[in-house]
Formats: sequence, C-alpha cells, structure tokens
Amino acid sequence: MPKIKDLSLAEAGRLKVEFAEQHMPALMRVRQDFEKAKPLKGIMIAACLHVTKETAVLAKTLAAGSAEVALCGSNPLSTQDDVAAYLAKEGIDVFAWHGVTTEEYYWCINQALATGPNILIDDGADLISTAIKENKLEGIICGLEETTTGVIRFKAMERDKALKLPIIAVNNAKTKMLLDNIIGTGQSTLDGILRATNILLAGKTFVVAGYGNCGKGLAKRAEGMGCKVVITETDPIKALQAFYDGYSVMGMDEAAKTGDIFVTVTGNRDVIKGRHIEKMKSGAIIANSGHFNVEINTEELSSLSAGKRTLRPNLEEYRLKTGKIIYLLAEGRLVNLAAAEGHPSEIMQTSFCNQALCVKHAAQNRGRLEKKVYDVPHEIDRHVAELALASYGVKTDILTQEQKKYLESWEHGT
Ligand SMILES: NC(=O)c1ccc[n+]([C@@H]2O[C@H](COP(=O)([O-])OP(=O)(O)OC[C@H]3O[C@@H](n4cnc5c(N)ncnc54)[C@H](O)[C@@H]3O)[C@@H](O)[C@H]2O)c1
Repeated sequence: MPKIKDLSLAEAGRLKVEFAEQHMPALMRVRQDFEKAKPLKGIMIAACLHVTKETAVLAKTLAAGSAEVALCGSNPLSTQDDVAAYLAKEGIDVFAWHGVTTEEYYWCINQALATGPNILIDDGADLISTAIKENKLEGIICGLEETTTGVIRFKAMERDKALKLPIIAVNNAKTKMLLDNIIGTGQSTLDGILRATNILLAGKTFVVAGYGNCGKGLAKRAEGMGCKVVITETDPIKALQAFYDGYSVMGMDEAAKTGDIFVTVTGNRDVIKGRHIEKMKSGAIIANSGHFNVEINTEELSSLSAGKRTLRPNLEEYRLKTGKIIYLLAEGRLVNLAAAEGHPSEIMQTSFCNQALCVKHAAQNRGRLEKKVYDVPHEIDRHVAELALASYGVKTDILTQEQKKYLESWEHGT
C-alpha cells in the first residue's frame, strides 16, 4: 500500500507530468520501445529518487517495459506531493511525502525494499546502503546510482571490499554528468535561489564552493546573470581551471568577506563553517546544491545566532549575536530541489534515458555482472545522445570509412 500525503492532489500531479512528457521526447521514445518489447517483464524495481514530474516520467517508462515499480524520495524536502499522488493512482508503490523526518525517510526506504526488488535505483546511495547494512539483498541483480556523492560512496565500498552487489554508475555517463550536473545544476540552482528570495543577481558577488561539474555550470550561469563570480576549491587543477576561466579564486576565509551569495556544490562537509559565517557581510545569503545537507555547518550557524525566523518558505533569517543577519536557504538542503523543482525536464530526459536503458542492460545481464562499480556502456551513452539530438532535429556529420581507419591507425604522421 503506497503512503503519500494526499491522493486528492493526483489531478494536479497528472497535469505536471503530462507537461514533462512533452519536454522529454527522448525518454518517451525509449518508452515506446519498452511498450513494444516489454524488456522488464518479471522485474521489480525499487527507486529512491527525488519525486518530481521527471521521475514520474521515468517510473511510467519502466512500468511500460512491464516492470513493477516502488518509489521512495531521496531527500526529505524534494518530494512533490501532487506528483506522488498521481503516481500512486497510476499503480506505482510510492512511499514519499514532502517534509519527512529522518525516521520516516528510512521507513519509506524500508517499505520500498520490502516490495522484493530485483533492481535498485538510487540517488545518493541511501537505498542501497540500507539494503547492504540490513542484509536485504536477496534477489537483487544490480544497483544504479544517479549522483556523484552516491558513486563516491560505492567506490569507497568497492575499495573496502564491502560492495555486495554490482553497481552501474549512471552519474558517470557523459550524457548525464556533462548535461545534468553542469547545465541542469547551473540553471536550477539559480532557480531555487530566485524562488526563495527573488533577489537581484546582477552586480552581486556570487561565491561558488567547488569547481567540479556542478560548480562550473553554476559559475557560468551566475556570471551570465551579471554576478561577479568567486570560486573556492581544494583541488589545485580545478582551481587553476577556474582561474583561467576568468574567475577570482581564493580560500573560503577570504571569500567569506566579499560574497553576497554563497553556494556549496562540493559533495564535502563543513565547507562553510562558523568561522566563515562570522566573517560574512550582514545580509549574506548561503545555500547548498550538493547532495547532502552537510556542506554548510548549520549547527555552528545556530550556535552563533541569537535567534532565527522563517520569512517565507525556504528562507530563514538568522540574527547573529553580533547583530549581523545571515539568510539560509532551504535549511542547507539541495536548494534547486527544495526551493524549486530540480532540473528542467529536457535535462532529466538524458539522465533518465540512461537509467531506463541501464535497467534494461542489467536485466539482460542477470547473473553476469560482478560486485563492482561499472561505467555506463559507451553504446548506451552514445545512443542517449543520438535520441536527444534526434528529438531536436539536430544532425551530425558521420565518419567516413577512411576517417575511421585514420583515427584508429598509428602509421600516419607528418
Ligand atoms: N543539486 C543537484 O541537482 C545536483 C546534481 C548533480 C550532482 N549534485 C551533487 O553535487 C555535488 C557535486 O557534484 P559534482 O558532480 O560537481 O562533483 P565533482 O567531484 O565534479 O566536483 C566537486 C568539486 O568540489 C571540490 N571540493 C571538495 N571539497 C571542497 C571544499 N572543502 N571546498 C571547495 N571545494 C571542494 C572538489 O575538488 C571538486 O572539484 C555532489 O554532492 C553531487 O552528488 C547535485
């Protein structure tokens, strides 16, 4: 039995999902193929994903392939209750509602695991880690991971010989990482900041912590909105890249003094600590777009504060004991999903084409995959790009036989 907030929201959810379907033609093409071939017959899937309209399009695509799908949310604040209601009405076992407590969050994960899945789709590794820790792995063929932080956790398990099932790192597909993380996070993070505050971006000093894929996309979009962008990094190569891309690069202790808006996207903890907050200007806005809410040390923010009040959804004003004001967005959770709706459908279509096609790949390779972290097969990655290009009517050149031969040979030189 699904558990959601309110089934009467299903109609609003349906309208949202129909809009997303119009903007995910590549995934709809995969759905058509799944409808015909039914490649997931007899497969049960448990997915722990942000319950958005795009995730609904994926869930329905998997169901079209004849899979049975259970879904739980992958962040306490990212579930859209109307979408959850619509999916429950469509026969998906949804265990998710906006604002779950930590205890409820893991209850939902355990309900999804109790459906007896064969394939696990995760976003941040909480579902699969729970299955491993609680030894609920019977019948499971493979796990798929959607985000950088989850892949890092699984690689750590692989290194420590604690990985108990094969994992496909969907995050690492080029058609995921170079589109979703860069373009999607760039746009949707600004969207979250604007929906929470409606602040003017032009002229502001915008500090991006982490110049990985997400950070690069965010820096570029913030620059495009007229911000002066400052990058903080710990990796000298990424820092040098940011410097050559024209940004100011400095440590957070320095950046704290100059920034108006701060966004962490590192996948690391304590990137903004109390000592940084003490140096910030009054009125500074801080937010996080990395996977977990550990990037901003909100406990230290609280202990520096004399009080706080919620001004509007996802906008909290902390009054420091010194009298300064600091604004925290979405409690330090992923601002693009908590304060906005996550990435646009067009971006999620390539991420979720990879998920759907990797589920099919895992089902077809049942019993043949080893307990290690696999990359997405190149043919799938390439096919996803072709599907997306075709949906825009964009054509590419095709290598001639001579060109292929030339690229594969070593004999030709000056
Ligand atoms: N908000 C979203 O929708 C969304 C989408 C994709 C990924 N993510 C998450 O965002 C995070 C970053 O993902 P990514 O793909 O950009 O990862 P990445 O590995 O490409 O980049 C992370 C960068 O942060 C840097 N870093 C680490 N610790 C730091 C510190 N203390 N200060 C400054 N920089 C530091 C690293 O050197 C690296 O360059 C992950 O948690 C990922 O799961 C969020």
